[in-house]
Amino acid sequence: MNLINLETPYGLRDATYQAVGKEPGLIKLVDHFYDAMERLPQAEKIRAMHRQDLTPSRQKLVAFLSGWMGGPVLYAERYGHINIPQAHAHILIDEADRDAWLGCMLVALKELDYPADFIEYLMQQLFRPAERIRQVSQAAHLA
Ligand code: HEM
Repeated sequence: MNLINLETPYGLRDATYQAVGKEPGLIKLVDHFYDAMERLPQAEKIRAMHRQDLTPSRQKLVAFLSGWMGGPVLYAERYGHINIPQAHAHILIDEADRDAWLGCMLVALKELDYPADFIEYLMQQLFRPAERIRQVSQAAHLA
């Protein structure tokens, strides 16, 4: 069994959290992410799903990603337990919405000049919850 993948060390312990620049880096990333969502025409539909004031969304995404990246589990500390797909199940999210969300993240990562291998790793990892969110959303709205 290959427990340590030397080509992608970002998955080990808090390596992703360190690589993003800990909490200050994460705050910057999430700011660029929501700024992209407010600006990009292809993100107009998903922007409209959010409340007018994106401040709580910014704070909650920072808190969630902190733990998700192996850093402090801020979301649970501040807001309690979250099941990410269930938290989105009331919204109808299709493939284009998923890709628009991931697209905003890619723009943000590129704007902040992270190394290409880190961007690739993070995008692959984020695809998982994004796709799971889409699946659970679609199932909830079919039911
Ligand atoms: C797949 C595409 C996605 C769409 C369209 C989407 C959209 C949304 C919307 C509309 C909200 C509610 C915001 C509000 O109340 O104003 C939300 C909340 C949230 N989203 Fe997403 N999201 C997506 C993917 C993700 C992913 C991949 C993550 C994490 C890796 C994430 C993390 C969160 C968090 C932590 C919240 C706050 C939940 C809460 O405390 O209620 N989202 N999202």
